[in-house]
Order: sequence, then C-alpha cells, then structure tokens
Amino acid sequence: MGGRAKARCDLLGVPPYSEVDGQLTRRFLSPAHDAALDTLSLWITEAGMTVRRDAAGNLIGRYEGASPDAPALLIGSHIDSVRNGGRYDGPLGILLGVDLIEALHDAGRRLPFALEVIAFGDEEGSRFAASMSCSRAVAGTLDPAAVLGMIDAEGVTLAQAFTAFGLDPARITEAARKPSDVIAFLEAHIEQGPVLEAEGLALGVVTAIAAQKRLMVRISGMAGHAGTTPMPLRKDPGPAAAECILALERICRAGTDNLVGTVGRMTALPGAFNVIPGAVEFSMDIRAETSATRDAAVEAITTEIHTIAARRGLTATVTLMQALDESPCDPDLTALLESAVGDLGLPVRRLPSGAGHDAMVMADLCPTAMLFIRCEGGISHNPAESVTEADCALAAQAMLAFVERLADRDPRPSTGSG
Ligand code: GLV
Ligand code: MN
Ligand code: MN
Repeated sequence: MGGRAKARCDLLGVPPYSEVDGQLTRRFLSPAHDAALDTLSLWITEAGMTVRRDAAGNLIGRYEGASPDAPALLIGSHIDSVRNGGRYDGPLGILLGVDLIEALHDAGRRLPFALEVIAFGDEEGSRFAASMSCSRAVAGTLDPAAVLGMIDAEGVTLAQAFTAFGLDPARITEAARKPSDVIAFLEAHIEQGPVLEAEGLALGVVTAIAAQKRLMVRISGMAGHAGTTPMPLRKDPGPAAAECILALERICRAGTDNLVGTVGRMTALPGAFNVIPGAVEFSMDIRAETSATRDAAVEAITTEIHTIAARRGLTATVTLMQALDESPCDPDLTALLESAVGDLGLPVRRLPSGAGHDAMVMADLCPTAMLFIRCEGGISHNPAESVTEADCALAAQAMLAFVERLADRDPRPSTGSG
C-alpha cells in the first residue's frame, strides 16, 4: 500500500496524461485530464469501487459501507497540475485513497460509512484565473455566473471547455453534495515545503490552510516607437510594473503571519522588442495565515500601485479574481489523525499549510483533515518534485489507521474481518 500510488503518479506524469512531451502539464478539461480520468477509472474499478464522473468534471469512486447508501468519508485531492509541474502534487492523495480502499476490499471489510475517492479537476487554476472550481462545485459554493465566462490563454471560455469535455455547463451545480451524505473529507498531500525533511519526519498533520487572494493588475500607458520616443516623453508601463512588484516584495517581506506575495505571470502588450508597451498586466498571489493580514497587505500594495502609476502619468486597475479565507482543519478529526500517526510509532508534528488545497473549500461542506508527506528539498510546482516509496507507504498506513479509528467511534456496524 502506498508504493504503488507513487508508481501510478509517475505513470500519469507523461503523455497522454500530460499535454506536453517531456514535462507534466495537465490542465483542467484538457485531453490529458480526460485520459488521466479514464485510467484512474480502471484503477478505481479494480479496487472494488463503482465509478462515475460528476457534472463538474470530478471523478468519484464509491465503496459502499455495511449498509447501502450510508454517508461517505471522501478521500482525495486534485488531478490537474500546474504548467511543467511535479507528479505528486494532487494525484498522490487520490491514489493513496485508491490503495487504502482496495486494501479494505481485499480484506472483505465494510465500514459503518461508505468510502469515496475523489479526483478534483481544477485545484491549481492553471488554465483559468480562478482555482478550485471543482471542489467548490462539490461543496455547493461555486457561482457559475462568476466563472463560466473566464477565458484561457487561447480565448476558450470555461463554459466552452466544459462542453468540449462532454459536460453541460448549465448543470455544474448538480455536482454539489448534500451535507447529510458526507461525513468528512480527508486529503493527503506532499508538504511542498521543507519542514518535515528538515526535522527528519515522514508525516505531518495539518492544522490550518493559509488565506489567499488572486488579483490581476493592469497598468496602462501609451504604446510607441522604441527607437524614436525620447525617454522623458514616454508613458511606459513597464518600469512602473517593475516598481509595483518591488513594492509588493517590500510589503510582504516586512509582514507577519507568514505573509507571502508572488507575481507569477506578467505580460507586456502588444509584446514586441521595438514597441513601448501600451499596457502591462501581471498577476498577484497574496497569502497569509489570517485573512486580516492578507487583506491589509493587499490594501497596502494596491495603494502603492495607484501611487506609482499616478506619479508616472499612467492608470492602474487592480481586479480581485478570487479570495479564499484561511481554513482551519477540524480539531476532532485532526486529533484522530494525530492518533493514527502515533499508531505507527511516529512522532506527531503539526504544521500549517501555506499552499492551497481542495480541503479548504471542502470545509464549507464538511469537517476536513489533512496529512502531509515529506518531499525532497520541499520542492514543488517544479518537475523536480520527489517523494519516497517508504514515506508513501507510511502515509497509506496512517490513513488506514485514521479510517479505522473513525469506524470504531461510529455507532453503525461494520462487517468483515478486522
Ligand atoms: C496550489 O497549489 C496553490 O497553493 O495555489
Ligand atoms: Mn499545486
Ligand atoms: Mn496540490
């Protein structure tokens, strides 16, 4: 259990499960996403589950409990990747769930609740500006009107992408689950940071997930000839954007509560060697342990952007694309997960998550718990992402211990050996 989950992530790291040869890029609703769901469906079926795709492009495997139609513990993560990403960010949490359920199936065990493994389609937001649209659909918090018109780099709307994937964009809210059908959501994920490795620990238990905001900034000036327009007469948004990014860095460096800010995308328009850009657009990703700290930073950065633009005779717009508040994991489930890690004889290390996860959205539907797995050098969102088979095996055992402890405290009966 566990080692195979890692091997399967590796298998899904190449075409047709990647859109690009020689790297892993699996964006939401792409042919690579479709191919990954087809193969995942086979593995889920082999593990003794029924399988279905929901109205929002999620894949769901279900292993019934001792009595039919019992509410389910959902276990999973996301199947999409960032551009040129690693193989374990997301899929590992799904495939550890498949391994765990297959072990119960092989032992002929039925729990008081059903188990479902879920592969969310869009956690990263690497195709469209907003992220986590699939877990938001399941949690019942997705507003289709706010997202269906978003366009990708090729000008395809999210609504068109859904249609091309064989889904009806008018029906995505049908993916919402009733709170009474869901007991909890358990997500295992690589840590994506260096803490566990530095402390020589395989596993960690997540206490809370940081708040984040995504914003787009556009600074507009005047396009012109790069050879003939004297420097003092230009209205060039390029240097203004550079100043704004330095202001973002300065404000975040001075911050508390693990405040971090990133400009991960930047475009000069129209984009030519010999044209002074008429506009520059860049993204901002701002995170902190609390929404209050995040919001104060966003406000300070926005003020700086307007001041810099005005001083240079330019105009600036700052548009909020998405806000996700901090999400504490459920204290009871977290304590149960800590006991499960302890059952393996491992030290219990609690830590917060700076990365976003589907669990933060699923918290609107049900209690959540998250298990972190050590990754090499803390490297993630990078093809160098790496985990060991041994750590994956420990994660699978801890997840099984968690599920067993949850079953033990459930008043409904279990069946089968164990
Ligand atoms: C997802 O990996 C995120 O933290 O943005
Ligand atoms: Mn990621
Ligand atoms: Mn992830």
